[in-house]
Amino acid sequence: MSKIVLVGYMGSGKSTIGELLSEMTGIPAFDLDKIIEKDTQKTIPELFSEFGEIKFRKLEHEKLKSFIAENEHYILSLGGGAPCYANNHEFLKLDGIVSVYLKASIKELIKRLENERANRPLLSGLKEAEVEEFIAKHLFDRSYFYHQAKHVVSVDGKNPDVIATEITGLL
Ligand code: S3P
Repeated sequence: MSKIVLVGYMGSGKSTIGELLSEMTGIPAFDLDKIIEKDTQKTIPELFSEFGEIKFRKLEHEKLKSFIAENEHYILSLGGGAPCYANNHEFLKLDGIVSVYLKASIKELIKRLENERANRPLLSGLKEAEVEEFIAKHLFDRSYFYHQAKHVVSVDGKNPDVIATEITGLL
């Protein structure tokens, strides 16, 4: 049985890498945001605008807790903020869980998120000129939590196959 949890900032490639890893290993891939969207029948932007971020974080915490309790064999990609709220980062430390931080630089994230901000409520309201400073500060604040993962894999300039292969070497 394998339990793999992928963490990292928005745009670091968690979902893409999760799917690829799944193809390579046969372990089923899940995405916590997609689970939340399916269970609530609402998109992440709708949840943020209808309930606010704090309620979203509570929901995210409950879904993560129950997923970990109920599943034995998975690759789970977390939303970028998930490890940074409640005691969620403690799940990354659990025996039997291979947690991996997909680490991207600010420059790389800005490039990757350039056309991807619309679906991310925390970024969609920013003006172009505000993006770099927002990401830099946000990443600084979150870095402690991301580094609670057992492994750190740098993603800058690497194609997804290379990253996924690197992760298979950790299993
Ligand atoms: C968030 C990241 C998003 C999603 C929500 C909040 C965050 O997931 O959970 O918009 O706080 O970083 P992705 O990292 O998959 O974009």
